[in-house]
Amino acid sequence: MERTFLMVKPDGVQRGLIGEIMKRFERKGFQLIGAKLIHMTRQQAELHYQEHLGKDFFEKLVNFITSGPVFAMVWQGDDVIALSRSMIGKTSALEAAPGTIRGDFAVHTNLNLIHGSDSPQSAQREIANFFTAEELLTYSKAV
Ligand code: CMP
Repeated sequence: MERTFLMVKPDGVQRGLIGEIMKRFERKGFQLIGAKLIHMTRQQAELHYQEHLGKDFFEKLVNFITSGPVFAMVWQGDDVIALSRSMIGKTSALEAAPGTIRGDFAVHTNLNLIHGSDSPQSAQREIANFFTAEELLTYSKAV
């Protein structure tokens, strides 16, 4: 059983897509164990995007992600990291396939609606950046 960090970015929140996005992960059968609407700090944003530090789009990325509220979530399930990334779709708007979240709703690479952890190590670091252990709830799941 894996956990992943998913986040509806400011563009997704402003477009009213939180419900649409959550519905997809619920229907797939993943379990939501933590969620909150937050306006992240610059420090949280820099830690979240640490692998992009030094890239030409880093400043723009940090400014964008701190420009408004994001909806931060932790989801649990078998292979949730790889499966949720395939449901999210490719980063580039031109490559995101129809049927994926980005393929269905995003036109620009910079406004690509949602973030998903890319590995168990990233998931652990990203979850700890936004949630305390007490904020993650365990409960039984209908099959
Ligand atoms: P994401 O993969 O969620 O996190 C990094 C983000 O940087 C990415 O989504 C894009 O929104 C944004 N970005 C902007 N330019 C680029 C680029 N050239 N390559 C990758 N990501 C980019």
